[in-house]
Amino acid sequence: MAQSILPAVRDVTALRDAVRAWRKAGLRVGLVPTMGALHEGHLSLVRAAKERCDRVVASLFVNPRQFAPHEDFERYPRDEGGDSQMLAGAGCDLLFAPERGVMYPEGFATSVIVADVSVPLEGDFRPHFFGGVATVVTKLLLQCLPDVALFGEKDYQQLLVIKKLARDLDIPVEILGCPTVREHDGLAMSSRNAYLSEDERRIAGRLNLILHDAIKAVRHGAPIADAEAEASRHLTAAGFTVVDYVAIRHAETLAPVSDASSARILAAAWLGKTRLIDNMAV
Ligand code: PAJ
Repeated sequence: MAQSILPAVRDVTALRDAVRAWRKAGLRVGLVPTMGALHEGHLSLVRAAKERCDRVVASLFVNPRQFAPHEDFERYPRDEGGDSQMLAGAGCDLLFAPERGVMYPEGFATSVIVADVSVPLEGDFRPHFFGGVATVVTKLLLQCLPDVALFGEKDYQQLLVIKKLARDLDIPVEILGCPTVREHDGLAMSSRNAYLSEDERRIAGRLNLILHDAIKAVRHGAPIADAEAEASRHLTAAGFTVVDYVAIRHAETLAPVSDASSARILAAAWLGKTRLIDNMAV
């Protein structure tokens, strides 16, 4: 891997200066927002950005507002040096790594709340989450003002929330969703997979297979509610400690559906202290 050093900026003025200079030179700019602890999933977004743009900015900010007090903000893996090297190797041109006080200065009082698509599923189980995501992503889009911002389908509901906020707030940035990158056994790559014990890691690989089976069942005519319940039972039998949801929903609105056309299957389940999510087109 190239050992190049990735230039980094830590405040909004420096970020805007760099992006403005590129755009003035007629270059197209892509933004890849991340919370670091990078893996191939993140790097696939950087590569996809590089294919579509002349310059790629990645942001690295572990956003406290999208973690509830009992969640893993403190222990979330952090390695800016390693992340920076991986980003450089994938063709990233600039790292935006703001401190907390840059994103949320003293007296910060604004929240971006997206209704409907952020209400069900993740919204039910992590009520604080999408407010935190929508607020920080709105800030990142406005701070950088790229041509394109890229997000993973791995966090499918998040992608829908971000598409909606960009459209509703007239933020002049194209929001592009990119396919989920998986491990050999199909487990969706995630920074949180690092929390899994060896045993849990083995069980984790069952999640995507059980969702595939549910899709097959629905395609063969199984009622949606039965396929959801069966998948949930299989997850528990495989060793998942708690199943938050397995849901087959409309792929754009996340509303319940009665048939499988334009549907998506989405799931969240716990292995001990680690919460995994996954989703696929039906
Ligand atoms: P983070 O979990 O670091 O993910 C950053 C981006 O990488 C997101 O768009 C996510 O969907 C994408 N990603 C993660 N795992 C992936 C995989 N296996 N395949 C493809 N893409 C993957 O998501 C966040 O950070 C934050 O909520 C953020 C949007 C940065 C706002 O704080």
